[in-house]
Amino acid sequence: MEKITFKPSKNGLQGEITIPGDKSISHRSIMLGSLAEGKTEVKNFLTGEDCLRTINIFRQFGVTINLEGTDVTIKSPGVKSFKEPTEPLYFGNSGTTARLMFGILPALPFHTVVHGDPHLTIRPMGRVVNPLKLMGASIDGRENGEFLPIAIRGKELKGIHYEMPVKSAQVKSAILLAGLFATGKTTVIEETKTRDHTENMLAAFGANITVNKNEISITNQNLLTSTNVTVPGDISSAAFLLVAGAIVPNSELTLKNVGLNETRSGIIDVLQEMNAQISLSNERISAGEKIGDVSISYSPLKAIVIDGNMIPRLIDEIPIIALLATQAKGTTVIKDAEELRVKETDRIKAVVKNLTTLGANIEETEDGMIIHGNTPLKGGELLSFSDHRMAMMAVISSFVCTEKVWLDDTSSIAISYPEFFDDVRTLLK
Ligand code: S3P
Repeated sequence: MEKITFKPSKNGLQGEITIPGDKSISHRSIMLGSLAEGKTEVKNFLTGEDCLRTINIFRQFGVTINLEGTDVTIKSPGVKSFKEPTEPLYFGNSGTTARLMFGILPALPFHTVVHGDPHLTIRPMGRVVNPLKLMGASIDGRENGEFLPIAIRGKELKGIHYEMPVKSAQVKSAILLAGLFATGKTTVIEETKTRDHTENMLAAFGANITVNKNEISITNQNLLTSTNVTVPGDISSAAFLLVAGAIVPNSELTLKNVGLNETRSGIIDVLQEMNAQISLSNERISAGEKIGDVSISYSPLKAIVIDGNMIPRLIDEIPIIALLATQAKGTTVIKDAEELRVKETDRIKAVVKNLTTLGANIEETEDGMIIHGNTPLKGGELLSFSDHRMAMMAVISSFVCTEKVWLDDTSSIAISYPEFFDDVRTLLK
């Protein structure tokens, strides 16, 4: 157990931080930049472990990828010249690398074997493998391809018309990426809109893609055109510091260059609805994505209900929103969030366990949780479940706990926010 207690001074958190690059967009920049022949430059790339996994995969195909600080230069021979890897491809903990690569690997004219760490190995892959099989992909693995390790033999793919049974941008993205290579037209219909970075970036790289509300179509396009990408700051990382600013008395902080794409900005709406003092400035469009600076200061909060179409817009922020709700007056209800059960860990169980340890009044439901707020939190021994977002939530909780907080392991934080502790210390100074 590591002691992770941070005690804010009477001024709370103060200052300005530039948020590191968005994880989802960083993954996609490597994928599309590698598929396109020629040179692609990426700025403000997230150097978290998950995104480095994606870089390593494309290096195994013969793509030259140089990383200097947060600048990436990709020099690709083009997807037609990718070579068959001699080793299995390792996805580590990265669900996004895994799910999105299932949209690319079945179209490559060779054999690949993919595997991951023990956490990824128990996460469902059938949600991408099954639609890919409908497109003609040759995929087999443990329990019929439901779980890693999985083997893929490249084949000709055909377009499909697919109504998504799950609310998942990863599934949507895999099908659209496969649609790049498939004969005819591929259409994906989602009942609830999920993050649309794949659609935006495919369009920027010259793909034949059309978006009509929740229906997205792509037609076969053998060549993408390289284009440079500037990655916005990750709103999912910003969320931890925004919540800290909202719950620690006297705080006043600004986070710069935060991605504000509508499909991701549910946390801003939730903070506003809970009466947080939050404001946006310097809003602009950068590389097809909305970005801006977000300022927040402490104020008393009230409980709300979070459900339905809002859930995909803040799916990764729910652990930290649960902590926020413990400090709000009234009962916050989070529902329609059953997807949390198949994230890096079962985040409903993990959040309820850790917040209960701290003294919160929180109940687990099948598809979410009920949090009775305005509870003073004491402290205690928390578990990260090797989940970066659980670990960061534990650190932020210590700001409002009256006693010490301990965590079994902080190493997972490097998956999505390697500079997290530096940024926390800067704001606490
Ligand atoms: C992601 C989509 C989300 C999210 C994950 C990243 C992406 O997963 O939880 O952290 O980059 O497409 P689902 O689409 O499976 O909900």
